Amino acid sequence: MAAKEVRLSVLRFDPQRDERGHYDSYSAPFRQNLTVLDALNYVKEEVDPTLSFRQACRAAICGSCAMRMNKRSGLACRTRITDELMSDVIVLDPLSHFKVIRDLVVDLEPFYERMNQVEPWVIRDNAVAVTEEGMKVDPEALMVSKEMRDCITCGACYSDCNVLDVESTFLGPQAIVSALRWAKDPRDVNRVARADLAIELGLYKCPVDQECEFACPKDIRIRREAIERLREIAVEGGHAPLPEHKRLINSVLTTGGVVCVTSKPATEMFPEYIKDFEGEPQATIVLFLGCIINRRKQSVAKAIINILQMNRVAVYLPRKAMCCGSPFMRVGQRSSIKPFVENNFRIFNDYAAKGVTDVLTSCSGCNSTFRHDFPVLAKEFGIPMDFKVYDVGEYMVDKIELNTRDLNETKIKGMYHYPCHIRASGLAEKIYIDLMHRIPGVELAKVPRSGYCCGGGGGVRAAFPSLSDKLALRRIEIAQESGVDTLITNCPFCVMSFERVLEQKEKAGERIDFRIVDFYEMFSEAYGKSTICDI
Ligand code: SF4
Ligand code: SF4
Ligand code: FES
Repeated sequence: MAAKEVRLSVLRFDPQRDERGHYDSYSAPFRQNLTVLDALNYVKEEVDPTLSFRQACRAAICGSCAMRMNKRSGLACRTRITDELMSDVIVLDPLSHFKVIRDLVVDLEPFYERMNQVEPWVIRDNAVAVTEEGMKVDPEALMVSKEMRDCITCGACYSDCNVLDVESTFLGPQAIVSALRWAKDPRDVNRVARADLAIELGLYKCPVDQECEFACPKDIRIRREAIERLREIAVEGGHAPLPEHKRLINSVLTTGGVVCVTSKPATEMFPEYIKDFEGEPQATIVLFLGCIINRRKQSVAKAIINILQMNRVAVYLPRKAMCCGSPFMRVGQRSSIKPFVENNFRIFNDYAAKGVTDVLTSCSGCNSTFRHDFPVLAKEFGIPMDFKVYDVGEYMVDKIELNTRDLNETKIKGMYHYPCHIRASGLAEKIYIDLMHRIPGVELAKVPRSGYCCGGGGGVRAAFPSLSDKLALRRIEIAQESGVDTLITNCPFCVMSFERVLEQKEKAGERIDFRIVDFYEMFSEAYGKSTICDI
């Protein structure tokens, strides 16, 4: 049997000689626990000594071997070559957003400049004399910034940052991690001023898509524990959230939802209990629609209910549910969320007391909030959590026997857009892709790299609409480059971001043959009939 080999395709570029880069192919013998860096070292020592890349510790400590592997950034010394990676050629590129010095070596200077902009050192009160006693720090007090201090300044997060793809002045995730680290240092007196400085440098330009966090080799929870925490400090200081966010927050506080009521909400279109099929249900659930679907995308609500009916799932649609609270958490206004947690928990716990313990969400943002923020908040507020949260798609795959018998042929060739909040909930892209493949006739193009952002989250569409539009347009262009004219997604926020840019193009007289399709509407239509009626 032939010895196993690892195949590499490495970007080669020498700015002294080449106008543009090209890929060279190499192979290296496989052995157990081989890393990408080991394979590169084999190539350098045995095949091509001209190949350039950085390394030092080989132990995920120094951060110097960061590069993009199959279009995702990470440490080459920490990336083991698995059977899955070996099944295809491993493509290696230098980190994005940097000038290439040679091959996989980049000039990290802009990254260090960003870090320096947030003043990464202790700022003390100079009026107070320096004494040995005064400079002592309680080790426990330092533990609050431990996670941020784990950063090895490798640049992987900066390379994969979605915003930096379209706006090079953005401070980037590592600078935010660094700012929070020093803001949390008990010796530092500049806590709030640090958050204010971060606002100036773009703290609120991040749509919290978490791409940086997936790249981070030190598992730093950049989104919730750095970006959103620094936003909380900014709110404490009184300079945040931004005026556009205050309008959203005000809408939630006064109307119970992030968008105002302009048409009959879905919760008033359907009865509280829906069972429009013969026989016993295979499951009974509570459906939380979320503000956007309830108030703006009632057709999606109808589609979801139809899917559940076609699968003999009885539905409770709570009348008095309010916003999931995501807008508060995303912009740092955590202090306002308690009534929303209390209200929604009371409703869900009441259903649970009657034996209906499964709560399904149809919006990716609600799901991520209920799954990640609510358990923490419930503990903090001393509220029990007697129910389980699922996304509708997840429930269709994991909890019920899916009716594929009645799915009709649907001729559609598109690309799935994987919403960042679905990914943040730990739900695999494969769940939704496999579900779509159950519909005869659906053809899906592969996304070059999942994790591209629609630009709509984290309050960005409200405060920085042109940035949000740039990201949405880029995502559409990525689909077009793959030869498809349809994006299919299961997040109403993503749908609205994409629709917004398409409308703008149309208004400007630009013809763009592109469609945004809601995942649930497509699935419901594939059943060919709707069993439910509005009331
Ligand atoms: S969440 Fe996305 S946009 Fe925000 S810093 Fe991380 S990668 Fe950049
Ligand atoms: S936050 Fe993580 S990915 Fe970013 S520089 Fe630090 S260690 Fe690297
Ligand atoms: S060589 Fe030091 S982190 Fe990889």
